[in-house]
Amino acid sequence: MGGLINILAGNSNRALAEAVAAYLGEPLTKCHVRRFADMEVFVEILENVRGRDTFILQSTSFPTNDHLMELLIMTDALRRASARRITAVIPYFGYARQDRKPGPRTPISAKLVANLITRAGVDRVLTVDLHAGQIQGFFDIPTDNLFSATYMVRDIKERHDLRNIMVVSPDVGGVVRARALAKRIDAPLAIVDKRRERAGESEVMNIIGDVTGKTCILVDDIVDSGGTLCNAADALLQAGAKEVSAYITHGVLSGGAVARISSSRLKELVVTDSILATEAVRVARNIRVVSIAPLIGEAMARIAKEESVSSLFD
Ligand code: R5P
Repeated sequence: MGGLINILAGNSNRALAEAVAAYLGEPLTKCHVRRFADMEVFVEILENVRGRDTFILQSTSFPTNDHLMELLIMTDALRRASARRITAVIPYFGYARQDRKPGPRTPISAKLVANLITRAGVDRVLTVDLHAGQIQGFFDIPTDNLFSATYMVRDIKERHDLRNIMVVSPDVGGVVRARALAKRIDAPLAIVDKRRERAGESEVMNIIGDVTGKTCILVDDIVDSGGTLCNAADALLQAGAKEVSAYITHGVLSGGAVARISSSRLKELVVTDSILATEAVRVARNIRVVSIAPLIGEAMARIAKEESVSSLFD
């Protein structure tokens, strides 16, 4: 990039920031993002950024609130240091699942977080596989939502016999996402329809589509506790699927998720590095991480050069 931009990394995913910086041939801008004794976040940018096009790379992953505060405070530091433009690169946008009121007297936290990021002084946002595309509209600043599907499709083509694949959405809410991927590899689509007929009764998993003898590929945006994924895998195998793998963008993998997935009948879970893999993820027998650093790097380069980002997906 010839020194055109400054890239700053929060503490959420330093490895991804370094990979993106390497892709762009730019060093990370020196800065301290640390804590006072009482855990307040303190930021100090150690290089001049006056008039510069700056990018903060920070996923708002676990610990979500700390990483969000780092992003806000880094933005404030850049703004007060007279950066010309601040782009928040948020590969995993936490709070995205709270994008509507599920009941009376509940918040829409995704909108609140979008407001906080905007009010802190961010000029534009770059993110990946938002839980719902409409969340872009929560920001009144330009927001690019990248799709990891290109990377997933490439991996699926390299490792699976496309003639026997059935793409599966693990719930009704994920059908649009799964259908888009199925279309790209010209595969049929099945849906796991979870239903609780009466309160207190356990959920029944109905499979819409014939998965007998098929290699099923579950597609989702988030794997958190792993419950949705492992239950869907069991239901598919029960319905006669030959084997089940999963391609899921954001490996949140909270609590006992890794243990649950490792001991499940899932052949493989593939996640991206939008969230830094823990040691448990790295050594898990059936979890693999695919890097989307080139995707993010390329989008940043295009933003810096005022080129089309959407044409990345043509
Ligand atoms: C929900 O709408 C998301 O797309 C995921 O299916 C969900 O977050 C997965 O959560 P868990 O792994 O805890 O079942």
